[in-house]
Amino acid sequence: MLFLRRLSRFIGPQRRLVGGSVLAGLIFAASGLVPPLLVRQILIWHAEGTAAENAIGLIVVALAVAFLVRALARYAYGMLSHWAAYNVQHAMMVALYRHIQTLPHRFFTDRRVGALVSRSVGDVETVEDFVAHGIPETVLAVALPTAILVALFLIYWPLALLALLPMPIIVIFGRYIFPRIRNSWGLVRKAMAGVTATVTESIAGFAVVKAFGREREQLRLVEERWRRYRDDIQRAQFFSLIPAGVIELIAGVGLILVVAVGGDLTLRGVIPVADLFVFVVYLGLIYQPVIQLAAISENIQKAMASTDRVFELLEVQSNLSDKPGATAPTSPTWSVEFDAVDFHYEPNEPVLKAVSFRAEAGELIAIVGPTGVGKTTCAHLIPRFYDVQGGAVRLSGADVRDLPLTWLRANISLVLQDVFLFAGTIHDNIAFGRPGATEAEILAAARAANVDEFANRLPDGYDSRIGERGVRLSGGQQQRISIARAILKDSSILVLDEATSSVDAETEGLIHEALDRLTRERTTLVIAHRMATVRRADRIVVLRDNTVTAAGTHDELFDRGGWYTDIIQRQELNTSWQLQSEAGRGSDGP
Ligand SMILES: Nc1ncnc2c1ncn2[C@@H]1O[C@H](COP(=O)(O)OP(=O)(O)OP(=O)(O)O)[C@@H](O)[C@H]1O
Ligand SMILES: [Mg+2]
Repeated sequence: MLFLRRLSRFIGPQRRLVGGSVLAGLIFAASGLVPPLLVRQILIWHAEGTAAENAIGLIVVALAVAFLVRALARYAYGMLSHWAAYNVQHAMMVALYRHIQTLPHRFFTDRRVGALVSRSVGDVETVEDFVAHGIPETVLAVALPTAILVALFLIYWPLALLALLPMPIIVIFGRYIFPRIRNSWGLVRKAMAGVTATVTESIAGFAVVKAFGREREQLRLVEERWRRYRDDIQRAQFFSLIPAGVIELIAGVGLILVVAVGGDLTLRGVIPVADLFVFVVYLGLIYQPVIQLAAISENIQKAMASTDRVFELLEVQSNLSDKPGATAPTSPTWSVEFDAVDFHYEPNEPVLKAVSFRAEAGELIAIVGPTGVGKTTCAHLIPRFYDVQGGAVRLSGADVRDLPLTWLRANISLVLQDVFLFAGTIHDNIAFGRPGATEAEILAAARAANVDEFANRLPDGYDSRIGERGVRLSGGQQQRISIARAILKDSSILVLDEATSSVDAETEGLIHEALDRLTRERTTLVIAHRMATVRRADRIVVLRDNTVTAAGTHDELFDRGGWYTDIIQRQELNTSWQLQSEAGRGSDGP
């Protein structure tokens, strides 16, 4: 089986533990066969009148040993298999995470691969379950009935053959019922996913639900999902419980056959009553594993599907890799140039067409344009989150594709439009920018980004925890932390994507002053919607309709007229309107 061959890469190193667990399992199962055999011996002694003086004492000792071995074997069996399973899980998880880190940016936004990544934890757990239970239990479920049959055949083979008669019925019945059970549980899983998604979403979006007064519709939606789940799981249970009953019935038929024929043989003295006893007890044990095999086959099928997905992910090749001989440059400052860049995410949906602009080393360049035009995309092309399809992005003349990736990423500070902060303290989130930064450097970066202003007012200051169980930060406060993180990184190229969009104009002014001081030595690209932000840029690049439609200083662009002038006038109108209304409110006050 392909899936076992694939898994052997992870299970292989655990073969001793897995083998030990299988062995312990076999001992455990075999020990269960001992007591009936001992009682059989008593019955034989009784029939033949040959019992020795301390016969029962011997039997008791043998029983005690059997149960001691059984207890130890059971512990070793579970212990070793889980030990191996968690080793496999650990190795797989680390291998996956290491691999995921090498994947290009595209894969994290591609929905299908994104789903693979987010499902991988669950998939690895399924494999863990397979190693812990699937492997040893399969061996047991096959070995136990086999051992019983061998024993029965050795005792009296014609009766053993008779006991086997109903077996084919079980096999045929199993073929009919088990696929139906699997399907119905598949539906349950889907329904459960639907329930979870709906409930999670409506709780996450409760503010919107409340604001639009949609509680009742939302409740109806959730109720409906839960009803579908209930119906599906009831149906699944309906099918699932049939085999146990049917198998009991068939086992009953087998037993009746054996008692009828075996009883007759016993009475006629063909076989001793002791043998009939062993037949009856063993037949009670032989059908159990059949039910278990059904559960195991589901476990195996899940493991197969999960293994496929895990390996699909592991086999995704990163096409972003260093060119052979790529060497890290040494210049301290860098120009950034877009040279006739063509780029699209989806074929036939161009985002950037022949985009060209240039930021000289040390310059501040602003990119403006309507929403969705591709500004963030430009920012992502510089650290090679994506590769361009035409033209090139160059740093001081060197194509970014010819530079070592680690060097590239180390020398670009990016403040992303979507702020992401890790669960942890404010301090840790800033320090993330540069491992090994001193306390003084961290505080200086925080001050420059105006984090000081609110951090010092928090009870725990910079050690305040953010996220789930920590303090709630406003959008602007989060942005300032992410700017501090980028400032701390202190790299020669700084890219700010709407980095100050959620802070007020005054704070923005303070941050830009600080950045000015810091950015004199570096090349900076600022993306902003608020035109006041970009005025002081050395050059402003206007992106419209997938390409650069104008570039120049604020004054040049403003005088030229067009989109830029329109926007400026509209925003200034807004500002003066705000000022007027504030002034108006002021005069109305007491
Ligand atoms: N990962 C992606 N996959 C596919 N298309 C994308 C992806 N990211 C962005 N796009 C598309 O590319 C275009 C440009 O997006 P981009 O985020 O660069 O715009 P933007 O100029 O930064 O907009 P905004 O001002 O709203 O931030 C949009 O049409 C968007 O739908
Ligand atoms: Mg954007």
